[in-house]
Amino acid sequence: MPLELVQGDIARQDVDAVVTAANKQLMGGGGVDGVIHRAAGPDLLRAIRQIGGTPTGTAVITPAFKLAERGNKFVIHAVGPVWHGGKSGEAKLLAGAYCESLKLAAANGCRSVAFPAISTGVYGYPVEKAAPVALQAIQEFLHDHSAMTVRVVLYSAEALRVFERALA
Ligand code: AR6
Repeated sequence: MPLELVQGDIARQDVDAVVTAANKQLMGGGGVDGVIHRAAGPDLLRAIRQIGGTPTGTAVITPAFKLAERGNKFVIHAVGPVWHGGKSGEAKLLAGAYCESLKLAAANGCRSVAFPAISTGVYGYPVEKAAPVALQAIQEFLHDHSAMTVRVVLYSAEALRVFERALA
């Protein structure tokens, strides 16, 4: 299956590139980002600080540093939107974060990518609204990149159910 939905921890995925939910300042943070930074080690923060920042709806790529011990080659730092009620272009920005991440993965020779549910934590995007946007962006990409496997890693059983329903 080129698109997989699983419940688990984003920092424990056997994929070429793991995506983290970053902020546009690329300052490092909590949630998924904290988990990824702890697993990758301090060189990851040094690498993104050198990049400096990236707009909402985009992504940047760095080496995976200590996550290479798990087989990951890259960390992709995707910046999703803060939820403001849905009328501030959130869906387009969220789709952009997925799409830009996938383009970076493909450009760097990745065959497999794992995403968390970007924006659905601290940034407050309702998971019921985020799931169809995320899945559509991924499926559009896979349509043109059939060799790529994309895994969405949901932290809770409830989030997994929401994504499974959206996929169905
Ligand atoms: N593996 C997979 N998913 C997880 C994990 C994990 N180990 N831990 C939490 N989640 P968030 P955002 C889920 O807040 O909303 C940071 O401070 C979590 O349940 O990490 O995009 C950044 O620096 C939620 O569904 O990302 C930014 O400032 C989802 O991952 C800001 O938070 C995303 O939650 C970004 O907020």
